[in-house]
Amino acid sequence: MRKLFIAANWKMNMYHQGAVELIRGIIERTRLLNSIDIMVAPPFTLLETIKSEIQNTHIQLGSQDVFFEESGAYTGEISPGMLLDVGCTHVIIGHSERRQYFHETDEIINKKALAALKNHLVPILCVGETWEERKQGKTFLILNRQILFDLQGIDNEKLSSIVIAYEPVWAIGTGKSATKEQIQEAHSYLREVIKEFASSPEIAYQLRILYGGSMNPKNAQEILSQKDVDGGLIGGASLNIDSFSSLVQIAENVQKMKE
Ligand code: PGA
Repeated sequence: MRKLFIAANWKMNMYHQGAVELIRGIIERTRLLNSIDIMVAPPFTLLETIKSEIQNTHIQLGSQDVFFEESGAYTGEISPGMLLDVGCTHVIIGHSERRQYFHETDEIINKKALAALKNHLVPILCVGETWEERKQGKTFLILNRQILFDLQGIDNEKLSSIVIAYEPVWAIGTGKSATKEQIQEAHSYLREVIKEFASSPEIAYQLRILYGGSMNPKNAQEILSQKDVDGGLIGGASLNIDSFSSLVQIAENVQKMKE
């Protein structure tokens, strides 16, 4: 049975004081919701602060990005070892904003995923089509290409610990999430692709696939209830105590329903 996973992506938001207020509020409201996994990915500047706030809670710490080299003359970059050192367990890789604004290719994303795994960080690998690609009927083609390229060289035994996030680019930050049918269809397709890629169907069954793209307390129940949806990667709605805590509560209820 896969455990639902609610992951917050704060993106380039939050300063020290607001971040402390936000995380304390979330801790307070989610303290007893222990049936699911929760992760928060603040900007690099707040990793240390959030790490100390979440001590003794079941909230885990994630980074929004990582570089693939271990150390050296790469001004401005952060290595997987540094993330581990500050207390991260997870790292978001290949987010569409990084693909779009920072020109990250599938080759770079694959290197990042391999480097993260080598350092015992769980990659949350983001894939998803643009609206143009969906209109042209290319959704599966794009997902197939991204996932197979990004996972190249990853051993079978490490594969089931990876988290995939299906994030249709057109649904991110737009207030217009994909429909539950579109989401289930994409998730089930991704699981099929993993099944073929991995040596055993068991791996594809264990691997968690999150949905991301305008998920909020209003649409979460129906999205999370889909058979192949194992949680959410939450942007906008993760920046508010009420909406993020409600999402965690909804996931907790859905988890119990799915069991
Ligand atoms: P959103 O972002 O929830 O604001 O749409 C999701 C994401 O980009 O991970």
